[in-house]
Amino acid sequence: MPGDAQKTFYLETFGCQMNVHDSEKVIGTLLHEGYRRVEAVEQADLILYNTCSIRDKAEQKVFHRLADFKKLQAQGKKFGVLGCVAQQEGEKIFERAPHVSLVCGSASYRNLPQMLAQIEASGAAATQNLDAPKPEARNLIRITGLDDRETDKCFEIEFTARSNPHRGYITIIEGCDKFCAYCVVPFTRGKERSRTSDSVLAEARQMADLGYTEIQLLGQNVNSYRDPAGKPTSRKSFAQLLAAVGEIPGIKRVRFTTSHPRDFGRDIVEAIDAVPTLCDHVHLPVQSGSDRVLHAMQRLYTREQYLERISWIKSAKRDISITTDVIVGFPGETEADFAETLSLLDQVDYDGVFSFKYSPRPNTPALRFEDPIPDAEKARRLEVLMAKQKDSQMSSYKKYIGSTLEVMVEGRNEARSQWVGRTSQNKTLNFSAPEEASPKMGTYVPVRVIGSFPNSLLGELVV
Ligand code: 5AD
Ligand code: SF4
Repeated sequence: MPGDAQKTFYLETFGCQMNVHDSEKVIGTLLHEGYRRVEAVEQADLILYNTCSIRDKAEQKVFHRLADFKKLQAQGKKFGVLGCVAQQEGEKIFERAPHVSLVCGSASYRNLPQMLAQIEASGAAATQNLDAPKPEARNLIRITGLDDRETDKCFEIEFTARSNPHRGYITIIEGCDKFCAYCVVPFTRGKERSRTSDSVLAEARQMADLGYTEIQLLGQNVNSYRDPAGKPTSRKSFAQLLAAVGEIPGIKRVRFTTSHPRDFGRDIVEAIDAVPTLCDHVHLPVQSGSDRVLHAMQRLYTREQYLERISWIKSAKRDISITTDVIVGFPGETEADFAETLSLLDQVDYDGVFSFKYSPRPNTPALRFEDPIPDAEKARRLEVLMAKQKDSQMSSYKKYIGSTLEVMVEGRNEARSQWVGRTSQNKTLNFSAPEEASPKMGTYVPVRVIGSFPNSLLGELVV
């Protein structure tokens, strides 16, 4: 096919690592279908947005983008909305943005080739008349791939187009069955479905053969992993799968996210202790330190149970870093509840906290809860929490000064003449190196820590 006649696409991704990885699979699918990826909207025949609806702000981004580029529709370009907003809003997207041709949720990506063929067969969009009163008269092509919670297949393809040659994601479980009261994910990503451990391990081995050294296992809730095939005795638990990936020759680091405290077993900590390639890091979202709020959130654990898991992690032989997610201003959260969250931060001494103002989401039970917290109060609590955590990291990160840590070289900051590395604990370690000893991207090098900030460390390459 001559280069300039090739179909082109532009894809922008919003949201979490799951979305980033879904996009890698979507890109792989499009390349396989003969499309070429372009970096500017103006150069593309097909413009895709892989969207996030975890909070309202994220959801609004896609509608802003669609409005910004609406005028390109007159040039025959087609627009597609993928991901969580697509699944959540469905055909309503066509009403709000009539120039959209494709609305496809993540559980339908395996049907993308047929959907793309339909879009291509629909001919030039320039023949469309957006001012006509009825969709038929407007000659609009409208294709939807929307699955309900009955979807039971994973999106497994061989042509994932990974964006980084050294570290990459592997999905082990899709969907979520937890139904936390605030969360839209069970509605946008469908029910839990695990891939077979054989298929996960085959993908990990293939990545190792291609030169990948770091693998991150992904799932909305990796601890719910259930190996769906094989004899009951040969099925792997999540901890066994983690260890098996870590034992693949060539793999130097394995990470996993996200863990749900309810299903987080001690066997995961034992695996981290036993297998050196498993990274010293657990992300264990707590959401609140108050039992009352945890109950209202339907998180299925108490503060005490959560702290028990933290004590397992802290009693490991290795120094495992712990990070978390917190929501402030959940309906009914009192000042005393919030104080309990702050005291939990003190008790755990987290290495990192991602904190969010509660955002009401469609379909979720919390939407109907009384006693909403005013936005200004949510903002105040968020600020208090973030300031506290910053202070805490400011002092706790100091303990690394003087130690030598191994980092994977991830980037270069030319302005500061520094290299950017990541430690096993998932901390950013910016470091300098003599020009003659410049490290290569993706390699692992020892760095001596000479300074610390609330969110990163500073060091020098050990030569
Ligand atoms: N409002 C605010 N934060 C939310 N999260 C999930 N749903 C909401 C919501 N409705 C946060 C949780 C979750 C993280 C990925 O996003 O903390 O762990
Ligand atoms: Fe959402 Fe809860 Fe499922 Fe996480 S476990 S995706 S917060 S419903």
